[in-house]
Amino acid sequence: MSTPLNILVTGAGGGMCRGINARLAGAGHTIVCVDLNAEASEAAAQTIRDSGGNASAFAADVADEAAVARLLAEVTSAVGPVQALVNAAGILDRKYLADSTAESFRRALDVNLVGPFNLIRAFSPAMIEAGWGRIINIASIAGVTGYPYPSYAASKAGLANLTRSLLEDFWGTGVTVNSVCPGVVDTPMVIQEVRDQVRRRVPTQNVIEPAEIGAMIAFLLTDDARNINGADLLIDGGATRLFSLFNNHEG
Ligand SMILES: NC(=O)c1ccc[n+]([C@@H]2O[C@H](COP(=O)([O-])OP(=O)(O)OC[C@H]3O[C@@H](n4cnc5c(N)ncnc54)[C@H](O)[C@@H]3O)[C@@H](O)[C@H]2O)c1
Repeated sequence: MSTPLNILVTGAGGGMCRGINARLAGAGHTIVCVDLNAEASEAAAQTIRDSGGNASAFAADVADEAAVARLLAEVTSAVGPVQALVNAAGILDRKYLADSTAESFRRALDVNLVGPFNLIRAFSPAMIEAGWGRIINIASIAGVTGYPYPSYAASKAGLANLTRSLLEDFWGTGVTVNSVCPGVVDTPMVIQEVRDQVRRRVPTQNVIEPAEIGAMIAFLLTDDARNINGADLLIDGGATRLFSLFNNHEG
């Protein structure tokens, strides 16, 4: 769709959303910033407005179904229906199995998996009614390959599978649903030790810029992408497809 869209972005105050917000607002879309952290949400919206874009800010815990229902009412009354949803809110709990508890494991699933589920349930009926919509879930290569922190890996694998499991629900509605699977992106979520491994483990040897994730999402919003549906789009420099047993790039 070439007309300006209302795009709801969760986790809008986070590092990756700096690139997503700027790219989508720069294309003329209105960004509905949502974050658990009200100040971060407002700061993200202000950054967009300072650059000449349109944005509003809301605070909500995506894991809380009642809070998401309130968010739907607030957003709809303030800006009208949203045509696109980017589920980027997420937490990475750096706990190995031995340090994890059922509670810590459950919180990761609640934010990273139940959160997108809540947002999709709340905001997709208006998309279906309009006959057009885009849902984009930010998963992770951790959900493809596995990861030492099991709550994160399980939640992101679940999110990618939730994505492709919604195709039936959106059959013939004009709404597509995809996940984007980033590798190592330059945000505060990524510790130095992981950045240091990129040269040896990623064929392109790049830490990914948040703007690159924004560019992929911007494409998914276009009508050229209308047949990309149920996909899990890797943007990882080739890291996931590398069979590292034969990788000899130590130098
Ligand atoms: N940074 C990476 O390398 C990388 C790689 C793959 C996937 N991801 C995913 O991309 C997304 C964005 O990551 P990031 O690097 O920007 O992380 P970040 O920590 O910088 O940002 C995450 C944002 O989500 C918000 N948030 C956390 N819990 C929330 C909740 N319950 N409700 C609403 N908002 C909540 C935080 O306040 C924060 O602003 C996450 O889903 C993350 O798992 C990141």
